[in-house]
Amino acid sequence: MMEEIEIPEAIRENAELPQKTGLPLPLLTSGVLLLGILGFISLRFLGGSKPAEPLVSNPPVESPSPVSKSEPEPAPTAVTPPAPAPIDLLGHLPYDVAPVSELIPVTADGRIKMRPAAANKFLQMQAAARAEGITLTALSGFRDVAIQEQLFFGIKEQRVQDAVKRAEVSAPPGYSEHHTGYAIDIGDANAPETNLETSFGDTAAFRWLEQNALKYSFELSFPPNNKQGVSYEPWHWRFVGDIDSLETFYKVRN
Ligand code: DAL
Ligand code: ZN
Repeated sequence: MMEEIEIPEAIRENAELPQKTGLPLPLLTSGVLLLGILGFISLRFLGGSKPAEPLVSNPPVESPSPVSKSEPEPAPTAVTPPAPAPIDLLGHLPYDVAPVSELIPVTADGRIKMRPAAANKFLQMQAAARAEGITLTALSGFRDVAIQEQLFFGIKEQRVQDAVKRAEVSAPPGYSEHHTGYAIDIGDANAPETNLETSFGDTAAFRWLEQNALKYSFELSFPPNNKQGVSYEPWHWRFVGDIDSLETFYKVRN
């Protein structure tokens, strides 16, 4: 009779465990680890299903400004745009026409007028020149647009000139310094043949003006080779002795 081997219960269970899996424990652990690594690799590099949380936190795609939306927008800086430069016409600049009721005469017959500030200074200058034997004659002062129209287009046709040629010595209507009431054409009573001619530049009157006109705030508008490209006009002077006249001729023009 075979002797039955009596195995205690506790030992029996322990002895049975390895037999249930068929694999030793270290091998099993390594396998699980390997599967984990492979899974990670497939998700990370082979485009597996998207993980619930991104593995790498990417920067937001749309970020128009580094300034957070919740921050207040910076107040726009108050920048005054520069005034547009006036458009010239054949080298002449546009001018407003002076208020006729404010003009005062600079000749005894009252036909030649200027703005009061300019008229008074011209009369003072004329008196100072006369005291030195020089007779300054006022040939033309304020001119309205209708007169300038006749001067520009009428004489242009009379002389059979094209517009460019005419504009060398005359401003188109709306573009004459004479509209402002600050400009005056001056002659020499001792040399009337030089009136409105370049040869006026050779007279005693012109030489006196060169030396003295600035004392009365008159300046030559069109010296030789002026920026506007207008012909030399030794007879044409403008007053720049108050803020209105200064702004008229210098604001945003240089
Ligand atoms: N004689 C100059 C060009 C003017 O009228 O402005
Ligand atoms: Zn003139």
